[in-house]
Amino acid sequence: MGKNFSDFKHIVVFCGAGLSAESGVPTYRGKGGVWEQYDYEEYACQAAFDRNPQKVWDFQNKRRSAVADCDPNLAHLIIARMQKEHPKVTIVTQNIDGLQTLAGAQKVIELHGSLWRVRRPSTGEVFDLREPIIVDSPRFANSDEWMRPDIVWFGDNLDNRRLYEAVDAIKDCDLFLSIGTSGVVYPAAALPQIAMQHGATRIEINPEETPMSALYDLCIRSPASQAMQELWELEDWTDILA
Ligand code: OAD
Repeated sequence: MGKNFSDFKHIVVFCGAGLSAESGVPTYRGKGGVWEQYDYEEYACQAAFDRNPQKVWDFQNKRRSAVADCDPNLAHLIIARMQKEHPKVTIVTQNIDGLQTLAGAQKVIELHGSLWRVRRPSTGEVFDLREPIIVDSPRFANSDEWMRPDIVWFGDNLDNRRLYEAVDAIKDCDLFLSIGTSGVVYPAAALPQIAMQHGATRIEINPEETPMSALYDLCIRSPASQAMQELWELEDWTDILA
């Protein structure tokens, strides 16, 4: 009996920006990446928001409208289907675009927050804010307090509950499937190491080599949708995992 998705008891899918690249959402690094065009110190850290919240919101609005025009791709759809059909699939994403949920995933651990939520800094409350896509006056009603995007910016700590939930799943999983992450942003970048320490089979899907590639049993150098379709359709993984 060969191994395929259904032979694993707990699958963790760990995603980065490359998963959404084929949907038209730019990645962060590399050619055409967000951080090539925008200096994160001006747009994606607490100090930038404290200095000039409107400027940060102008950037958020651009990203919100760009992502709102994108649809989930085949890889998002296969992951969502896998979560429906397999008894235990935990999706851990670094993406803030919400496309995995839009693809029908029941539960996604969003390590870096969401473009579609805001936080009230004075109370810590979090609100969904999908509409309007362009938030013209990002202030709370009857107050001059600015809405803060519910995104983990450079220098922020991750939400501990989400991080521990991801770590617990990874310690328990027997298949760790990483898709489209450069593996350079911590603590998320340390997660494949935990999978290795706990004996999971590890597969990396990324057209390019990453600093974490050596931690994987198998590296598939194709775009996410093609790799996911091939894995999904392949009944016997014995040869590719050998
Ligand atoms: P990066 O932009 O750093 O890396 C994207 C990765 O996707 C690269 O390794 C590409 O080779 C790969 N890639 C590109 N196209 C692909 C495709 N079609 N299929 C599969 N892989 C593809 O994005 P992340 O690793 O997600 O944080 O970046 C991590 C964090 O850094 C982000 O969550 C963001 C950023 O700063 C915050 O905003 C907090």
